[in-house]
Amino acid sequence: MDYYAKLEESFQSELQSVSNTVELQTLLSKYIGKNGFITQKLKEMAAAPKEERAALGKAVNKLKCYIEEQGKEKKASLSKKDNRTYVDITLPGAYVKPGGRHPVKIVLNEIIDIFVSMGFAVEEGPEVETDFYNFEALNIPLNHPARDMQDTFYIKPLGAETPANSYRESNIVLRTHTSPVQIRIMEKKKPPLMFIAPGKVYRCDSDISHTPIFHQVEGLMVDEGITFANLKAVLEAFIHIVFGPDVPVRFRPSFFPFTEPSAEVDMGCFSCKGTGCRVCKNSGWIEILGAGMVDPRVFNKAGIDTNVYTGFAFGIGIERIASLKYGIDDIRLNYEGDLRFLRQF
Ligand code: DAH
Repeated sequence: MDYYAKLEESFQSELQSVSNTVELQTLLSKYIGKNGFITQKLKEMAAAPKEERAALGKAVNKLKCYIEEQGKEKKASLSKKDNRTYVDITLPGAYVKPGGRHPVKIVLNEIIDIFVSMGFAVEEGPEVETDFYNFEALNIPLNHPARDMQDTFYIKPLGAETPANSYRESNIVLRTHTSPVQIRIMEKKKPPLMFIAPGKVYRCDSDISHTPIFHQVEGLMVDEGITFANLKAVLEAFIHIVFGPDVPVRFRPSFFPFTEPSAEVDMGCFSCKGTGCRVCKNSGWIEILGAGMVDPRVFNKAGIDTNVYTGFAFGIGIERIASLKYGIDDIRLNYEGDLRFLRQF
């Protein structure tokens, strides 16, 4: 009998030092587990003399019940203290699909990198613009037919009760191009200026090659003695970096109200190599961007002395470059959020 009292005592003292459920489990199996002391004793009982068996059994069982009881209590008090969450590390993990950059963003970043590497700074301007910056200062006066080139979203002034078709009277618009940033920066900073202005622009237009929102990168370089040769060098270098060093580039006379002379810049069709195909509408050339020498009227509006300074400007449509690079045949795909499209980049 003494033996059981000792066993109980040692169990109790060991129980005292148990501080978590794992230790408790180890302790319990040491006593009442498959090979534990108590289980061992129960097995030995079979060999004990008949008359002792009953008393022996009672003692062993009593101790076993006691240990089980103590174990339960300890477990309850441990789990009250232990508020950690246990993770079943054998469960299959939750798969997190990695995100990817949007094709327009990939191309935009690449274009920014190219111009930054040439020494251009990066500037920004507001997407909600005034008529002055978006049109007037860029030599596009009110009622001038050049305004029809850009299907403008007019913003209803706060509190105004105007019917929709007279919003045109409002002098607040969603910028239709990034060119207004030229004026904003020229007003703020003195030449020499050499910067690009990337960003979103808006036009009320939607078809296979137009979306109401799209992206442009504007460029401006102003200093003493800037000529068309500088413009050619910068834009040729840009096109050769994006589309390869051997692609032919041509400057075609064009018109923009804010540049004189103006040019549209084409590159040789990569698809037919100039012989004419569907991609280049049989011309052998693909239009890439608009550019020109800054019109003196624009310099005057922005307060730049035309006796001292000349400059060039250019505007690049990002979705257009992305379409050419990736062969995207419908510009609207960029903004439909279809993952089957987006996962390809
Ligand atoms: N702002 C013009 C557009 O959206 C693009 C452009 C053409 C920008 C010629 C320029 C430029 O700076 O010189 O159609």
